[in-house]
Amino acid sequence: MVKVSAPGKLMLFGDHAVVHGRPCIVTAVNHRMSVEMEKREDSKIIINAPEMNINDYTVSTNELNKEHPKEVKFVAVAIKNFFEKYNLKSGLNIKTKSEFSSKFGFGSSSAVTVCTIKALSELFKIGMTEKEIFDLAYKTVLDIQGVGSGFDIAAAIYGGTLYFVTGGKTIEKLDMKNLPLIVGYTGIKADTATLVRMVAEKKKKNSYVDANFDLAEKIVFDAKLHLENDNHNVVGELMNSNHGLLNSLGVSSAELENLIHSAHKAGAYGAKLSGAGGGDCMIALAPEEKKEVVKKAIENAGGIIIPVETNAKGVRVEE
Ligand code: PMV
Repeated sequence: MVKVSAPGKLMLFGDHAVVHGRPCIVTAVNHRMSVEMEKREDSKIIINAPEMNINDYTVSTNELNKEHPKEVKFVAVAIKNFFEKYNLKSGLNIKTKSEFSSKFGFGSSSAVTVCTIKALSELFKIGMTEKEIFDLAYKTVLDIQGVGSGFDIAAAIYGGTLYFVTGGKTIEKLDMKNLPLIVGYTGIKADTATLVRMVAEKKKKNSYVDANFDLAEKIVFDAKLHLENDNHNVVGELMNSNHGLLNSLGVSSAELENLIHSAHKAGAYGAKLSGAGGGDCMIALAPEEKKEVVKKAIENAGGIIIPVETNAKGVRVEE
C-alpha cells in the first residue's frame, strides 16, 4: 500500500495569459489532496472518493477507455495513461481524500491526477522524474478538459512558488518566504474551461487581447523580482494592475469585484481574482497591521476567508 499527497494551488499572476504562451506565477498552498493505493489480485479497479460521494466505483482494467463519472474521471484517465505508457495492467484499490473543497478552485483535479500518477510510479517501482510525472499528468488533464496551461499540475508536483510558462516550457522555483496572502472565497464555483474558451474566442476577434497578455507578461516579470525581495507594497500594486487586465477580458464577476473593492477600502496593498475568474477565490495582500481589518471587510462583503500558507511542499510519499 502506498499513500501520496500533493498540494493545492493559487495563481498569483498571469492568469489566462499563461494559456497563450506567456508566463505566470503560481504558489502551492498547505491544503493537500491524498491518494492511497494498493494492487489487487483480480483485474478490478475500485475507487472510493468519500468527499465526492463515490463509494466503490468499480471498473475492470479493460474498461478504462469508457466514459467515467466526472468525480472519478481524472483518477481513471491517469491510470489508463500510465498503463498505456508503461505497458502495465493490474487491479487496484484506490482511496482519495481532500483537505479542501473541490469548489474553492484550489486545483483538486490536478492534485488528484498528480497523486494518482506518483502513487502508480511508486507501486510499480518506475521511479518517474518530476518532469515525467508532469508530462503524463498534463496529458491526462488535456485528454479530459481539452484546455489548460498545466500550471496547477506543476504546483502539485514541484510545490513552492513557481515561475511557469505554458505547458511546462519553463518551471522555475522562486526564492521567497511564505507570502501572507488573504484568500476570500466568493461561494461560487468557476467554470474554468468555459472561461478559457471565452477568452480564446475574444483573442481570435480582437488584437487588443494579445496586447493585454503582453502587459500581463511584463507584470509577471516585475512581480517575480518584487516577490523575491519581499516588496509587498509593490507586489500589491502589481496585483491591482493584473486584476485590471483580467477585468477588461470580462472574466471578473460582481461578487469578485465586491470582495476586491472591500479589501482595497480596508487598506490592502492590492487584490485580484485568482485563476479563471467568474467565482472561486480572490487574493489580497495587506500590511501586517491591516490584515485583520481587511479580512473582516471581505467577510462583511459576503466572502469566506480561507486560511492558507503559501510555498507548500510538492507531491510526496506519506509514511
Ligand atoms: O480556475 P483555475 O484556478 O483552475 O485557474 C485557471 C487559470 C487559467 O490561466 C485561466 C487557465 C490555465 O490553465 O492556466
